[in-house]
Amino acid sequence: MQQEMDWVKDLVIYQIYPRSFCDSNGDGVGDLPGILQKLDYLEELGVNAVWLSPVYRSPNDDNGYDISNYQEIMEEFGTMEDWERLRDACHSKGIRLIMDLVVNHSSDEHRWFQESRCSRENPKSDYYIWRDPVGGKEPNNWSSAFGGSAWEYVPERGQYYLHLFSKKQPDLNWACPELREEIYRMMEWWVERGVDGFRVDAISYLDKPEDFPDSPTAPEPDGYSFCIAQLAGRPGTHAYIREMNERIFSKYHVMTVGEVAAATSLELMNYVRTARREFDMAIPFVPPKVEISTWSPGKLKRDLRESYEALRDSGWWARFFSNHDKPRQVSLYGDDGRCWEVSAKLLAMLLHTLPGTPFLYQGEEIGMTNVRFPSIELYDDPDAKNCYRQTLLEGASEEEALRQAQLESRDNARTPMQWDSSPQAGFTVGTPWLPVNPNYKTINVEAQRNDPYSILQCYRRLLSLRREHPVLARGDLEFFDLPEESLLGYRRSYEGETLLVFHNFSPERAELPLDLVPKEAKVLLSSYDREGGYGGPQLRPYESVIFRLG
Ligand code: NOJ
Repeated sequence: MQQEMDWVKDLVIYQIYPRSFCDSNGDGVGDLPGILQKLDYLEELGVNAVWLSPVYRSPNDDNGYDISNYQEIMEEFGTMEDWERLRDACHSKGIRLIMDLVVNHSSDEHRWFQESRCSRENPKSDYYIWRDPVGGKEPNNWSSAFGGSAWEYVPERGQYYLHLFSKKQPDLNWACPELREEIYRMMEWWVERGVDGFRVDAISYLDKPEDFPDSPTAPEPDGYSFCIAQLAGRPGTHAYIREMNERIFSKYHVMTVGEVAAATSLELMNYVRTARREFDMAIPFVPPKVEISTWSPGKLKRDLRESYEALRDSGWWARFFSNHDKPRQVSLYGDDGRCWEVSAKLLAMLLHTLPGTPFLYQGEEIGMTNVRFPSIELYDDPDAKNCYRQTLLEGASEEEALRQAQLESRDNARTPMQWDSSPQAGFTVGTPWLPVNPNYKTINVEAQRNDPYSILQCYRRLLSLRREHPVLARGDLEFFDLPEESLLGYRRSYEGETLLVFHNFSPERAELPLDLVPKEAKVLLSSYDREGGYGGPQLRPYESVIFRLG
């Protein structure tokens, strides 16, 4: 990270999925005035940056990740004046505003595509990726991340266009210099309007091979993995990112986090090594199916060590467990049953005690959980429907297929924010675009606001600890070698201050190696604060504890 971007290290970023955050006008869809109403809540929580998932004009084929006008606001979300009011209110509270930037693809309803599709000779004809049919069929065997072919035929041109996501999300042609200039002008336009940073969507696929060879492995095991294996991280993609950096990020000192798909974790580092001048941080994208089937506390430990070693002197980390594409963190990594509260706190304590910039996703601060809609028709996420179809094709029963879709669906993260126990969780007075999670009567902000031991209070406490103890944002990290796979421990130190942190990622008790904890160590925070805090010497199920030395 460049010296002048050092402020990024002190950010705590809260991701808002605007559709599901707060609806101010009763149409069932969250909106910008709704976010404005909740800004005091975010200030109270203690975050100092907000990332908005896309709010641009969009036909909503992929909930805003299909943009039809980059310089207008989606009608359902409000107006440009609403956005300006939100920006000003954020800035007056010292909260930075980060916008989602989706430039791997646009919507097919964008005027660029409307023009491009008309003929092979028009000023925008090269803005997208067009290829002739081969033997009367698609140019190659590639599949899209959302399933099905990655190609769609347009009779007016007698050609196919490429779409790595849905067919309403044609890929932009980054090899076309005029297109790149349009994108940079658009980014400058937002920077001039006071945007502090960009989260850059699906950025690993910008460069495509000229000849589009068939893939020998098509399309296993799922569309996402296929795209990653086939396309992610080509040298041309890195060159485009560096150009973007030179033209916009460095020039205007805006903060950037790339959403990056990479075949290996070392490849991931290529996007964020300071010397490469690409992004400040990266959010790795792992397909939900893969994450669910491969995650374990042992893997987490190994990944943390590896990424720390790889970047400790040459880059910076985005820390997160949740976003709008993932199952809810307490359901995936913790225990959303008996140990719901302590395991949600453990995850919070891990997130805020590692070096890197923490990203919170709306609702994690109250321990929102996965939802289980009783029928596939109730799901909105195309990925969930795809998973259901795929699981049936593999021979599973309808019940099993539904169960798999329930586990993987991105709707788990997209059910409306649970503000209180009134109808529709206080999200809307109308009918929400996606049903609320039925557990809103017990899991909601109101219930946790004044409870000194709630998950929400634990987040507030962690955020104030971060402000009071620079060691949390700036300190060195040293992992302890703990043989128990589910026990994670490390030391953080900075300018004479030392913290020791332990997490028991298990529903069983675990031995805390007491020789690592000097007698004078004081407990700063424990996930068992409701039960009187850390009692030692063992760690209870999902117990997490932060000690301070001296
Ligand atoms: C990643 C986004 O996070 C996801 O929600 C979206 O569907 C794809 N990119 C396509 O834009």
